[in-house]
Amino acid sequence: MAIQTEPAANSAAATRGLDPAVVRRDFPILEQVINGHPLIYLDSASTSQKPQVVLDAIDTYYREYNANVHRGIYTIGEKATAEYERARAKVARFINAPDAHEVVFTRNATEAINLVAYSWGRQNINRGDAIVLTEMEHHANLVPWQLLVQERDGDLEFIPVTDDGILRLEVFEVLLKLRPKLVAFTHVSNTLGTINPVREMVEMAHAVGALVLVDGAQAVPHVPVDVQELGADFYAFSGHKMLAPMGSGALWARRELLEAMPPFLSGGEMIREVHLRRSDFNDIPWKFEAGTPAVGDAIGLGVAAEYLGEIGMANVREHERDLVGYALAQLPARVPGIELYGPMSADLRGGVVPFNVPGIHPHDVAQVLDRFGIAVRAGHHCTMPLHERLDLAATARASFQVYSTRADIDALCDGLVEVQRVFG
Ligand code: ALA
Repeated sequence: MAIQTEPAANSAAATRGLDPAVVRRDFPILEQVINGHPLIYLDSASTSQKPQVVLDAIDTYYREYNANVHRGIYTIGEKATAEYERARAKVARFINAPDAHEVVFTRNATEAINLVAYSWGRQNINRGDAIVLTEMEHHANLVPWQLLVQERDGDLEFIPVTDDGILRLEVFEVLLKLRPKLVAFTHVSNTLGTINPVREMVEMAHAVGALVLVDGAQAVPHVPVDVQELGADFYAFSGHKMLAPMGSGALWARRELLEAMPPFLSGGEMIREVHLRRSDFNDIPWKFEAGTPAVGDAIGLGVAAEYLGEIGMANVREHERDLVGYALAQLPARVPGIELYGPMSADLRGGVVPFNVPGIHPHDVAQVLDRFGIAVRAGHHCTMPLHERLDLAATARASFQVYSTRADIDALCDGLVEVQRVFG
């Protein structure tokens, strides 16, 4: 099929530097025809597609310098090590980390959060200590803390959300009187798209001596993230949602915290010296990178960060703000009875639009949309407690990336009208 295009004037972001029609040419997967229709990929919150530069970087690594890192005293081993560490520096620059050694490569945001829960958590959370989370957390930023407080006899508290998915900061203020050791929350909700006021929440938490972990899985790919400006202590994110390979991701944390934390996984690479009955550990970040790492994936992550950096994250945000505004206006106007969830202002929402077509289960909605080549996610999106809070069994969800267009949303509207026709 032909690459889908739209007039530049159709998108506010196009005039500011991101023309999705041009960007789409970098994503070979989008050229496919699915069930006789051009692929309309609206599931980027689940995972993003990968641009040619990322595919090429992985291919080149395996074809030309596949070797283990920090081990081989030979040409391709040294090149692999240099490129792996260069990728770390690119990722650090992308989130404005003050020091690349504060960036630990992980498999994804989930592993990054588990690293903190197991290492920092088991060292610092004791009987009666509180951890404050929110009702909108992805299971990845909930279950590790449940396991931790069960083991350490701690306590979880939750910042509630309003009916339109905004955190109730006046309740957070009250919860802070419990003097929690940690506050952990998502930067951008994967289900509702809500963009949380990270800096304000960090300041509130720090005022009572709590550390802050931010789940940035849905933020780093979509909005400018400057960890120094945000001021959090831990910031976790996945590579695969930011145009990088599956199995890539990172934890950023302040140096003194990482240095004080015990290892999470252990084995090779994370050690300095090993004796039969004791070991000394490597410096950060390698202390937290046991075993042979996913070298090609990390290199791909560095290239993806560079690619997004070249587009400009302010442009990415503006593009998605435009798409969200368009979707929030078009869906109710064109799909009778559709229910939308989350903040109704594009200014408060990242590129995520959950919805229900009354009387039709979201799985059926997704299945019929697939007949038209349209991919959306349906289910609870790994946020069962949030769905419970909003009294929803499940939702369908459209989500965007740099290659998404207003034409994709038009196709979704037409597809949903067909869904209604199919189900009478
Ligand atoms: N966390 C991913 C999502 O929201 C998988 O779909």
